[in-house]
Amino acid sequence: MSHLIAPSLLSSNFLKLEEEIDMVNRSEADWFHLDIMDGLLVPNISFGFPVLDRIMKVAEKPMDVHLMIVDPDRYLDRFRASGADIITVHYEACAHLHRTIQAIKDSGAKAGVSLNPHTPVILLREVINELDLVLLMSVNPGFGGQKFIKQTYRKTRELKTLILDNESEALIEVDGGVTLRNARSLIDAGVDILVAGNTVFASENPVETIHQLKHC
Ligand code: DX5
Ligand code: ZN
Repeated sequence: MSHLIAPSLLSSNFLKLEEEIDMVNRSEADWFHLDIMDGLLVPNISFGFPVLDRIMKVAEKPMDVHLMIVDPDRYLDRFRASGADIITVHYEACAHLHRTIQAIKDSGAKAGVSLNPHTPVILLREVINELDLVLLMSVNPGFGGQKFIKQTYRKTRELKTLILDNESEALIEVDGGVTLRNARSLIDAGVDILVAGNTVFASENPVETIHQLKHC
């Protein structure tokens, strides 16, 4: 499988959101990455259902919803109703992670779990066969445009080994500080999906930048 590109709308121009979504629709991007922040799990608040419901109406590619919220179980069905195709929760936010993963699948969405930079990969051993996706945070979550944390390469390789050893089908997604410079090394380390916010939306030609990420 060729790797996938998921532009993060957090870095888009919210005053021109429909144009930004059209750009992603026209580009070689594979998914929309949507960051939901509650000001508790992470020190920022992004956007919620009213915005997501509008995005769903114009987005023509799968919606990859990254929940940076505490106790996400409260809202899983609601996010599914807002168009989420993939729902990713944070390991650090779930007391009963196995149950949460089942609830995501019961909603009809694909299930992902995200690890903060300080959280070791091995903690996913008991659930790796339940997962469609693991999202490695390569910055501390909360903001776009931060510097990539290099330990992510080693974590990616460890995660790849865990997936292969357990014959899991989980894909590996990396989120935070992805650039045209580190994209190829991440793919070589085993990454399946690159999230890119600032690299895409701050570039002069976002469609071309997505093309370059896709063919790096
Ligand atoms: C950060 C978010 C990311 C963010 C990535 O907490 O999860 O998806 O938008 O932005 P960049 O690619 O600019 O680091
Ligand atoms: Zn994200």
